Amino acid sequence: MSSYTAAFRVWRGDADGGALEDFRVEVNEGEVVLDIIHRLQATQASDLAVRWNCKAGKCGSCSAEINGRPRLLCMTRMSVFSREETITVTPLRAFPVVRDLVTDVSFNYAKAQEVPAFVPPPGVAAGDYRMQQIDVERPQEFRKCIECFLCQDTCHVVRDHEENKASFAGPRFLMRIAELDMHPLDAAAGAGVDRKKTAQDEHGLGYCNITKCCTEVCPENIKITDNALIPLKERAADRKYDPLVWLGDKIFRRTE
Ligand code: SF4
Ligand code: SF4
Ligand code: FES
Repeated sequence: MSSYTAAFRVWRGDADGGALEDFRVEVNEGEVVLDIIHRLQATQASDLAVRWNCKAGKCGSCSAEINGRPRLLCMTRMSVFSREETITVTPLRAFPVVRDLVTDVSFNYAKAQEVPAFVPPPGVAAGDYRMQQIDVERPQEFRKCIECFLCQDTCHVVRDHEENKASFAGPRFLMRIAELDMHPLDAAAGAGVDRKKTAQDEHGLGYCNITKCCTEVCPENIKITDNALIPLKERAADRKYDPLVWLGDKIFRRTE
């Protein structure tokens, strides 16, 4: 078992501003960055704010940026860094800072609320829903999401463009729309909710230019872009060029 001392640079501050602070901290074999942050709290910075819960990559609360890359603190092994390098830990850049490494991620909860919920199929009692595995294969992948919001943080549409937040749901919630749109039992269309149209018109699907940055940072390895966003774009495009939908839109507009 070999221990060493690592150089850490941690952002300290609050909504009014802050700065990076340098520390030297003991590291033991097998530790992750969150262990080091906890050791910092225990030995040198007892008031350092950090959000965490499960320490197992499942609650999604320890999201931060390590050397500028959005990551989970609890799933980033110290062994991925060389012993000589300075490790910089900063709060998620796309969201307002509360204090130190803790950000206010309520933007994401607001976006979650804007997505209409699953609409149960009419005439089928809860508990009687039946689906074939083959029909849920694709949306099932999206259910692995732990809502860490690393994808939301890294997406360039909002990362440096606060002004886009009002009209862009972000990859996590566009993926949620895709999941519901692919759900074999979702009856939203019958209830007057066109998920493809709302993805385009209300949730900013068109802003996504499929750079795949969201996919690269997802700790659950969900293929957000390839399996959710691109298919949703294709479905939305099909809808747009469907002559019956086009006619329906025309008639609807005339009678408005
Ligand atoms: S693929 Fe789309 S949603 Fe994902 S990071 Fe790029 S622009 Fe954002
Ligand atoms: S899709 Fe991946 S990166 Fe985005 S919130 Fe879910 S788990 Fe996190
Ligand atoms: S503490 Fe739960 S995901 Fe890191």
